[in-house]
Parts: sequence; C-alpha cells; structure tokens
Amino acid sequence: MRQPLIAGNWKMNGTKSSADALLNGVVSGSASISKSEIAVCVPFPLLYLGEQLLAGSSVRLGAQNVCTEAGGAYTGEVSAAMLVDFGCRYVICGHSERREYYGETDAIIARKLAACMDAGMTPILCVGETLEHREEGRTEAVIGSQLEGVLSEIGIDAFDRLEIAYEPVWAIGTGKTATPEQAQDVHVFIRGRIAAQSAVIAEKIRILYGGSMKVANARELLSQADIDGGLIGGASLVADDFLAICQAG
Ligand code: G3P
Repeated sequence: MRQPLIAGNWKMNGTKSSADALLNGVVSGSASISKSEIAVCVPFPLLYLGEQLLAGSSVRLGAQNVCTEAGGAYTGEVSAAMLVDFGCRYVICGHSERREYYGETDAIIARKLAACMDAGMTPILCVGETLEHREEGRTEAVIGSQLEGVLSEIGIDAFDRLEIAYEPVWAIGTGKTATPEQAQDVHVFIRGRIAAQSAVIAEKIRILYGGSMKVANARELLSQADIDGGLIGGASLVADDFLAICQAG
C-alpha cells in the first residue's frame, strides 16, 4: 500500500509574513493527519523560514527547482547541496511551467533529477499533456516520450528514488480538473510503462495527480487505485484547504 503524498507547490507566491502564517497553519493542522505524507515546496527565498517553522513537525520541506550543476559560476542558480543545507526533502523537477517558459528539455530534467538524488533528496518528476495533445489523441505518446526521455538518461533503477506527478497542462490553474477516470487512465499508463522495465518499482512508485485538485474533488481523485497523492497549486496557499486535501488522502 502506497502512503499518499500531498505536496503543495506554492509557485511564485508568498512573503515572509504570509509564509509565516501559512506554514504555522499547516504545521498545527498536520498534527492530526496521519494518512498522508505532507510536503510544502516553497520559493527559494522562503526556504530558511520553511526550515525553521517545519522543524519538529512531520511536514517535509521542498523546493520547486534545482540547478543541474553542483556549484560554482552559475549566476542566479541554486544547487542541490544548497537545498539539502536548508533541509529540503523534495524537489519538483520538470514542471510544465518550467518546460514551457524556460525551455527545460527531458535531458535537462534528467540531470536535475540526478542532481537531487546524488544529494540524497527525492525529486518529483512532472509529466503531462496539453489540451491540444489530448484533443489529438496524443496524450499517451507525449507522456510516454517524457518518461522515455528521462529513463534513457538515468535508467529504471533511479525511479526507485523519485516520485512522479501527472499534471495535465490544461488542468493547471484552470479549474478544469481531469475527471477521476481520465486521471486514473493516465496513471495506469504511466505505471505500465515503468512496469515494462521493473514490476517491483512500478508497484512501489507513487504517482501524484496535479491540476486543480481542490477540497471538493480531492477525495474522489485520491480514491482512485493508481492516484497516490496530489501536487497542489492554488489550494496549497490556503492552510485549511490544503489540510482538507491532506485529510482526504
Ligand atoms: O504543481 C501543481 C500545480 O501545477 C497545480 O496547480 O493551481 O491547478 O492546483 P493548481
């Protein structure tokens, strides 16, 4: 049985004061939630506050990106070692917004995954199709290509040390959530692709759903056999909503 992981992706949101209130709200509410593993992936400037306020709680700290390189002359970048120094457990890699806005390719994402794992962290690999892909019947082809683009670089054994998030691009921030059946079908496809190389890893790996998961739809989504948690954007910015989703896991 895979324990659900509910990870909040704050994206580029938060100030020291708003983060203080949100983190304290999540920490206090998490004490009564045991069914889900909980993580919050905060913007880089809020990592220190996150480390301080999550200390002693069961809530894990995460980041939303990482440099492919270990350190040195990479202005503006943040290394895996720096994230570990701030107590990060998880790192979102290959989010569709980074693929789209910053040109992150499967090869770049594979190097980010490797950097995280080499530093002892657990990356969350994001995959997902656009509405155009889905309407053209190319959902499995696109996601299969995204998986293969990483598998060919880091190999199947690395998938024993990462999480996957299926995030249909057309559902991110739109309120147009995938139906539980749509999401379950893609999760089964993803798990099947992994099983083709390792049945053991396929059974063990957690596949999260992301894309307008809200309090109202979380329970039905999370009741699907192959949905092992959620990667939560907007709803993670409200402590009560995020905790309600964690409770639904
Ligand atoms: O990484 C999670 C994010 O892309 C989902 O955003 O606002 O649709 O929950 P949202």
